Amino acid sequence: MSVAKKDYKRITTKSLIEMKSNGEKISMLTAYDYTMAKIVDSAGIDAILVGDSASNVMAGHETTLPITLDQMIYHASSVVRAVDRALVIVDLPFGTYQSDPKEALRSSIRIMKESGAHAVKLEGGSEIKDSIKRILNAGIPVMGHLGLTPQSIYKFGTYTVRAKEEAEAEKLLEDAKMLEKIGCFAVVLEKIPSALAKKVAESISIPVIGIGAGSGVDGQVLVLHDMIGMTHEFSPRFLRRYMNLYDDMSKAIGNYVSDVKSQDFPNANEQY
Ligand code: KIV
Repeated sequence: MSVAKKDYKRITTKSLIEMKSNGEKISMLTAYDYTMAKIVDSAGIDAILVGDSASNVMAGHETTLPITLDQMIYHASSVVRAVDRALVIVDLPFGTYQSDPKEALRSSIRIMKESGAHAVKLEGGSEIKDSIKRILNAGIPVMGHLGLTPQSIYKFGTYTVRAKEEAEAEKLLEDAKMLEKIGCFAVVLEKIPSALAKKVAESISIPVIGIGAGSGVDGQVLVLHDMIGMTHEFSPRFLRRYMNLYDDMSKAIGNYVSDVKSQDFPNANEQY
């Protein structure tokens, strides 16, 4: 079903909540640098997530755990400089909010002050409730993240679908209700059964943005480098690739190498 889109000049947390109540689906992608963020924002995305997936995509780490607060601020400030319209949300990296609410607030304040971003995202439910409340009390908008939470990969042991069992599904639903109640503006649900994600989206009034959570939610998020096919080792079922840039770029770079070697490049028109 297509829904008439309202023309938003600048997306705020309130715009996303309004989209949910109007039945307009929310589009979100990650970005980590100025050039990509400029393209993503100009193409009309609603929200940009400066995800800690930068740890994998930009730095080549196996997990999201190693990325630091300084590195996230560097990525986020590059993105913020590029963006005219989208809401920019930044992940609090592992180890900067779990130990106590004061540290969570200090980390969030650094992100907001030093990058100019509009909101932060944290992974977890009841375990980090006090930290989320503390951040919200300082006037900083918070997006929750439940289901597969990659910062806990060593607890889960795998990146497979979460909340298939009833007890975990029930806790997830309770956590989502709690996030809404304490004042989060949205929640990401990652890699959970679509029926559960739909139930969560129908049970709370704040937007639910899914990744591998099916079509019954209020919006979708993907990692930019995966959806444009710059990465190619990672092919989960939920990923739709809109381009195959890995192959296109490899071909272009291969052509450049052979043009340099054969002295075809630069030609007479490509020099001074
Ligand atoms: O870090 C990230 O890119 C994320 C998305 C997968 C939601 O948290």
